[in-house]
Amino acid sequence: MSHFAAGILGTGSYVPDKVLTNFDLEKMVETSDEWIRTRTGIEERRIASEDQAASDLAYEAAKRALEAAKITAEDLDLIIVATVTPDMAFPSTACIIQDRLGAKKAAAYDTSAACAGFLYGIVQASQFIQTGVYRHVLIIGVEVLSKIVNWKDRNTCVLFGDGAGAVVMGRVAPGSGVRSFTLGADGSGGSLLCLPGGGSRKPLTEEGIHQGLHYLSMAGNEVFKFAVRVMNTSADEVLRKIGWEKEDVDFLVPHQANIRIIEAARERLNLPLEKVVVNLNRYGNMSSASIPVALDEAVRSGRIYEGARVILVGFGGGLTWGATSMIWDTKEQEE
Ligand code: UT7
Repeated sequence: MSHFAAGILGTGSYVPDKVLTNFDLEKMVETSDEWIRTRTGIEERRIASEDQAASDLAYEAAKRALEAAKITAEDLDLIIVATVTPDMAFPSTACIIQDRLGAKKAAAYDTSAACAGFLYGIVQASQFIQTGVYRHVLIIGVEVLSKIVNWKDRNTCVLFGDGAGAVVMGRVAPGSGVRSFTLGADGSGGSLLCLPGGGSRKPLTEEGIHQGLHYLSMAGNEVFKFAVRVMNTSADEVLRKIGWEKEDVDFLVPHQANIRIIEAARERLNLPLEKVVVNLNRYGNMSSASIPVALDEAVRSGRIYEGARVILVGFGGGLTWGATSMIWDTKEQEE
């Protein structure tokens, strides 16, 4: 039994200015706007500039989330960054952000769960807040996937985009905030979605670069089937744990990988279109940043309101997956 309720006090997001449309991609690889739109739902994505790294995007999103939560960086106890495209292997991107924000008393670490990373971060942060150990945790999902994508591979390069989303979590009224969660992993599927080179298994060599080991690799079809399955089972599980019926859900904020995967989840939960937050047409798949950017847009546009019952659900490389149910409440509880 937890002592305190943990909720999201404020959200923020940032995407780079440069837009890459499906029509631009038609000039780069053998593809068409029609194929990309009908098979994925994506129309355009954002691309970081050459000198923009993950921490640059994350910093902007973090500042906006702090402002929305009405706290300062000095109030932070912990910073968690979910990313598969950190500035470098170490120091962590969370430490880089800690310094840039001036969050002097905050601990900081990166968490690695690919597209499910933000959900893993939310659940970790909730534990620290629910036990009363920490008051304010900043969780950021950030990716600069354009830097690990093979721009000659039409199977992958049309799918991904760059961006950052952040939330500040803190103590909220008993009964609101995060109400239930599920996290899962199936490491046997690790090779289906991975970055094979650059780690201690295959340090980058000239030969490795020649083989393209520094590029993201994905078995799209296999990941698709897995995604549809775990989106459904995870959403069902968090509903069951909290005792909500499908019609109790006000908003579903799913990972944004493919409109067909989102549609399958929407149908399964029997939700009308307006209850599902979709932005992949404008941003593509931003891995760990997809859910927090979609969440921030839905909050800032007024779609998600105080008291709304929200489900976040996602999946990704690892393989990993997760979901949370929450009652939206941004009012911080002092005691
Ligand atoms: O967030 C991380 C998780 N990632 C995902 O969730 C991705 C999940 N997977 C998917 O979204 C889909 O599997 C893809 C969008 C990646 C692929 O869609 P699909 O309907 O599964 O297509 P497919 O892989 O079965 O390929 C169909 C055809 C192939 O041609 P043949 O072999 O049938 O002649 C591909 O070569 O489409 C071809 N193709 C393309 N054609 C034009 C693949 N990519 C492209 C492209 N443009 N960009």
